[in-house]
Amino acid sequence: MTDIENMTDAKAAARLKWLAMEIALHDAAYHGDDAPTISDAEYDELRHENLALEEAFPHLIQPNSPSMRVGAGVSDAFAKVAHRLPMLSLGNAFDAEDVTEFDERVRRFLSLSADDPLAYTAEPKIDGLALALRYEGGKLVEAATRGDGRTGENVTTNARTIADIPETLSGDVPEVFEVRGEVYMSHADFAALNARAEAEGGKVFANPRNAAAGSLRQLDSKITASRPLRFFAYGWGDVSALPGETQEAVLKTIGGWGLTVNPAMTLCEGPEALVAYHAGIEAQRATLGYDIDGVVYKVDRLDYQGRLGTVSRAPRWAIAHKFPAEVATTVLDDIEIQVGRTGSLTPVAKLRPATVGGVVVSNATLHNEDYIAGIGGDGQPIRDGVDLRVGDTVQVRRAGDVIPQVIAVDLSMRPENAEQFVFPDTCPQCHSAAERVEGEARRRCVGGMICPAQAVEALRHWVSRDAADIEGLGIKQVEAFWQDGWVREVAHIYTLEANHGEALRTREGWGEKSAANLFAAIEERRILSFARFLYGLGIRHVGRTTAAMLGRAYGDWASFEAAMTAVAGGDEGARETLLGIDGVGGVLVDTLASVFGEATTLDRLARLREHVTVEDAEAVAEGGVFSGKTVVFTGTLERTSRAEAKAKAESLGAKVAGSVSAKTDYVVAGTAAGSKLKKAETLGVTILSEDDWMKMASEG
Ligand code: IVH
Repeated sequence: MTDIENMTDAKAAARLKWLAMEIALHDAAYHGDDAPTISDAEYDELRHENLALEEAFPHLIQPNSPSMRVGAGVSDAFAKVAHRLPMLSLGNAFDAEDVTEFDERVRRFLSLSADDPLAYTAEPKIDGLALALRYEGGKLVEAATRGDGRTGENVTTNARTIADIPETLSGDVPEVFEVRGEVYMSHADFAALNARAEAEGGKVFANPRNAAAGSLRQLDSKITASRPLRFFAYGWGDVSALPGETQEAVLKTIGGWGLTVNPAMTLCEGPEALVAYHAGIEAQRATLGYDIDGVVYKVDRLDYQGRLGTVSRAPRWAIAHKFPAEVATTVLDDIEIQVGRTGSLTPVAKLRPATVGGVVVSNATLHNEDYIAGIGGDGQPIRDGVDLRVGDTVQVRRAGDVIPQVIAVDLSMRPENAEQFVFPDTCPQCHSAAERVEGEARRRCVGGMICPAQAVEALRHWVSRDAADIEGLGIKQVEAFWQDGWVREVAHIYTLEANHGEALRTREGWGEKSAANLFAAIEERRILSFARFLYGLGIRHVGRTTAAMLGRAYGDWASFEAAMTAVAGGDEGARETLLGIDGVGGVLVDTLASVFGEATTLDRLARLREHVTVEDAEAVAEGGVFSGKTVVFTGTLERTSRAEAKAKAESLGAKVAGSVSAKTDYVVAGTAAGSKLKKAETLGVTILSEDDWMKMASEG
């Protein structure tokens, strides 16, 4: 902080002006865009400095000073709600001394001596966003965000989708009761949401608070409903009556009406007990399961609260005791690329070890290549346009047990020879191409089963129903065998009995019988159709239909593999032939070329083919009844599986579609066929029973 005592008026005025502007900018970034650009601790420091300066130079306080506002702007996208009572903010305490001073201030104001009893409630300060819920006659009628403290946004429809917010309160509820509290997202839900967003190439949130704010402030409440938001009630606003005389009593009553009050709320006497509570919660911080940034103390007696009243933007009867800033400055030593089970490439910052909030951090997520390039977009804390380079001095933040993040770069410290980071376009594990699909932020390795990073996933895929379909070999067994080094690649499944037969029979959870069953199931799958074999390899873009189609085009595995190796080697003719197949596009060709261009792939394939025989694919029948026709299967087929029927239809030259349209030639209706059958009838499409289909299919 600046040296206030030695400041001239002119300097103080200039600094206040700068602070007003800076704080307004951060308010807008935080509340308007749900994308803060600095940490909470840094923001608090700015506000702190502003207050200290105004205390020293009261004649310089401007009407637009941050101390006169609560923060935030209100987006035009939502209807505005005028708060009947302002939604206040809280003053901050940073250490035990600040807490003692708070207690002394309160006592002085109330003319209480140091020995007079004075209780406080203490509870975690949730790092989410404030929400006011207005209940009339016990029914939820309005939900509003804090906004600027006086006017918030009407988010009623969205709030109704939150499980913790009851539509109706149960019990003896006053006619009007406005509950106030915090909307937040748990660590687990946040991680799952981001994982889903990443897999789908969507927006990744920087932290649970941004995710909660972004989810609540959705124009489409269906999106809010799909986001797992939660709510803790911590207070109230406009009420027609209060069901108690203390903070604790009222909150407990609110809890009895069906809302959730933080179970960690405790009554404390005296500043020592408050500080001990703070230490206790800080110790539990990583295991609470949601982000908190401190604890809040409130004078328990409501008559005292009334007498204490508010000053500028915060009540005199409450204070937030913050945790020390969880931000550290360190050096980015390297950027490592990790490959996930599904082949997605994630850049990880290798940091010079630094202590962040009491934990030594040496790794931090960098999300994806755009994040490194400084074009992170919404919700990303790095400022637009600043890329990250190895050697950079960076700021690292850790929020709860959320993975640490690199949030800022100090450009003034950048070494002269620091080079722009080039994101790899091949997989660091198996050297297959790592491709970026348009609209997705992540690159993915196309290697499938040849990629060691994807090995367990590859094994799981191989044994799955539409691939080798090995009974008794599921994800649990595959993972266990992988752990023990028994099965590290698909070929090892077929040598399991020879190499580990004895060990399996005596393994925990296994016996003579179960081991024998498994070996028999594996034996049964030593001969596979072309389509199952190729699909089983788990190559990206090669689904069941594509695998079957390639089989029909090349006939046998040896020809197919020779052709793919030729394509990989740059043989133009082979490439043209492949591209000429109906349904084959450039992306598929490039993927196959990259996979079959790797010597390790070919080696693994050779090892696998020592144990598995690939049947020749059925050639497509031409001129039959189904040739060139579009067929839709609906309802339950009794004599065959849907997958087998589909494969059969395709081998007869038909295209199998999922929905009925005017272009459909045949609908095969099994039992309990529903809307598709109706539609076919309406459109006059030929309808076949399962028996008709079996008969016609067997005749070709
Ligand atoms: S009491 C008049 N209790 O912190 C007192 N606030 O910095 C109003 N917050 O706007 C707040 N957890 O959004 C209170 N247990 C808690 C809280 C809490 C989180 C938020 C709240 C408020 C902000 C103030």
